[in-house]
Amino acid sequence: RNSTTAPSAIEGTWEALREQAAVCSRCSLHAKATQTVFGEGPQDAEIMFVGEQPGDQEDLAGRPFVGPAGRVFDEALSAAGMDRTKLYVTNAVKHFKYEPRGKRRIHQKPNRGEVEHCRWWLDRELEQVKPKLVVAMGATALFALTGLQQRLEEVRGEFIPLEGGRQLFVTVHPSYLLRLPDEGLRRQELERFRRDIAASVQNW
Ligand code: URA
Repeated sequence: RNSTTAPSAIEGTWEALREQAAVCSRCSLHAKATQTVFGEGPQDAEIMFVGEQPGDQEDLAGRPFVGPAGRVFDEALSAAGMDRTKLYVTNAVKHFKYEPRGKRRIHQKPNRGEVEHCRWWLDRELEQVKPKLVVAMGATALFALTGLQQRLEEVRGEFIPLEGGRQLFVTVHPSYLLRLPDEGLRRQELERFRRDIAASVQNW
């Protein structure tokens, strides 16, 4: 895909990168968010998981996937016998986008411009970690990683070669599962998500 950003404008250590991300104001989302939620995990991880953006709990904790969606993700990983500490886990967008409603903060989907601005950070993470496999959870991650605005079902569950010998695997976002109103369907989709996660993390 076409990236309009220079290879690595930031020289220096991973810590320097995180420090820069912590004060990022490339888009307006930083203004309302508590903090930047950068990716976490080993810098030499073979597998990188990419979600959409931090949710309410991630925004407060400063760590990705620690709320309800994170629990669905963690369960799928343990069912697959995968230890999350071996993975690098991050999001397409590093700030929580929300609308206040009373005391609650309601998640809002990041728009295309926000994803494109934040892709600068995702590119730095990919450059540093050099994963062999990238797993996109949901359409926002797929778009951030490939520029494709495709129906997930068309690409879900397959290994797709990316540039540089890297593979991409696409599945749904765990929050989608939590939003399904029908319990039967939810259980079925949860099973399918677990199968996707198990298929994606095997043999790396
Ligand atoms: N949803 C995401 O996409 N990422 C998180 O970190 C939490 C919820």
